Parts: sequence; C-alpha cells; structure tokens
Amino acid sequence: MIDIVEFDEHDYSKIVVLNKTIFGPIVKKQKLYTEENMKERLATKKSIMLGAKYQNKLVGYIVGYFEKKGFYLWLWGVRKEYRRNGIYSALLFKLEEILKPHKVEKIFAKLFSNMTDSLICHLKKGYVVVKAFKSRREPSFYEIILEKKF
Ligand SMILES: CC(C)(COP(=O)(O)OP(=O)(O)OC[C@H]1O[C@@H](n2cnc3c(N)ncnc32)[C@H](O)[C@@H]1OP(=O)(O)O)[C@@H](O)C(=O)NCCC(=O)NCCS
Repeated sequence: MIDIVEFDEHDYSKIVVLNKTIFGPIVKKQKLYTEENMKERLATKKSIMLGAKYQNKLVGYIVGYFEKKGFYLWLWGVRKEYRRNGIYSALLFKLEEILKPHKVEKIFAKLFSNMTDSLICHLKKGYVVVKAFKSRREPSFYEIILEKKF
C-alpha cells in the first residue's frame, strides 16, 4: 500500500507543497524551503529525494545529499494524519537500500531538541546522538546531531 518513488529536480515543487502541509506556518513565516531555496542548496550536491505515496497520494518524503564520506539527511516528514503507519520506516529502508552500493560510512541528520517525534523515531531506527549544542538561531533549543554508522 505504501509506494516509495524517486524524485529529481523536476519534483521540487511537490516537496515544497508537501512541506507546507506538514510544517504549516513555520515554513511560510521563515520562507524556508522554497523551490529556490532547494535549488540553491542542492545545486552542487549529489542528492537523493524520495516520496512516499499512500493510496496514490503523496504523504511523506526524504531529501538528503552526499557529504564527505556520509549522507546528510536534510529534510523529511510525513503528513500528520498518516503517521505511525510505517511510512517513514519505508522511506528510510528504501534510502538505505539505494545507499548500499555507495558504501557510505554513515547517515547523519541535524534536528532541534523540540522535534520530539523525529528524535524518538530516529533513535528507534538505530541512530545515536553524537552532539548537542545550544542553537545560535533559536537559543531556547539545542541542535542535535544524529548518526547511524554502517
Ligand atoms: C518523525 C516522522 C517522520 C515519523 O513518521 P512516521 O511515518 O509516523 O514513522 P513510522 O510510522 O515509520 O515510525 C517509525 C518508528 O518510529 C516510532 N515513532 C514514530 N513517531 C513516534 C512518536 N511520536 N513517539 C514514539 N515513537 C514514534 C514508531 O513506533 C516506529 O518504531 P518501530 O520501527 O520500532 O516500530 C513524523 O512524525 C514527522 O513527520 N514528524 C515531523 C517531521 C520533522 O520534524 N521533520 C524535521 C526535519 S526537516
């Protein structure tokens, strides 16, 4: 029932729309993750973008890129009403499958300490906390670096 599809640069708009649905006002207010923003960030990177379809509807995604000897998980999310159905697990599984032949040493991600769902979910998926520091951008939160080694 869950289909994982590979996206490319022609699909940025789909990710931006989905991102707005998932993060709502925060994304709009900070003008985060517009198509321009994505193009700029990913222009010089070798990226992987995956979408998750549930009953043919796009409900989740992952965007990341190769960085040094690892893979940086930049953006991810699943629409609220579709969570806890294994959708993000399916995205991570597919990502790891795609990454296998590239022999990356680790997948790593950065998140804010208030992103509880993401934090718990990644810990359950074998990620560990390797760093935490007070955010300069948002001093009331910590920024947490997670990684999963292979
Ligand atoms: C984190 C997120 C992607 C998880 O998506 P999901 O489709 O609900 O995840 P899954 O159903 O595949 O669950 C994966 C695992 O995490 C666990 N999990 C997910 N959310 C959880 C929660 N809130 N509390 C406890 N466990 C949780 C599940 O039990 C499952 O564990 P298991 O593999 O041991 O069974 C989703 O909650 C989300 O989009 N959150 C906001 C995204 C975000 O903050 N992105 C920021 C980066 S840009």
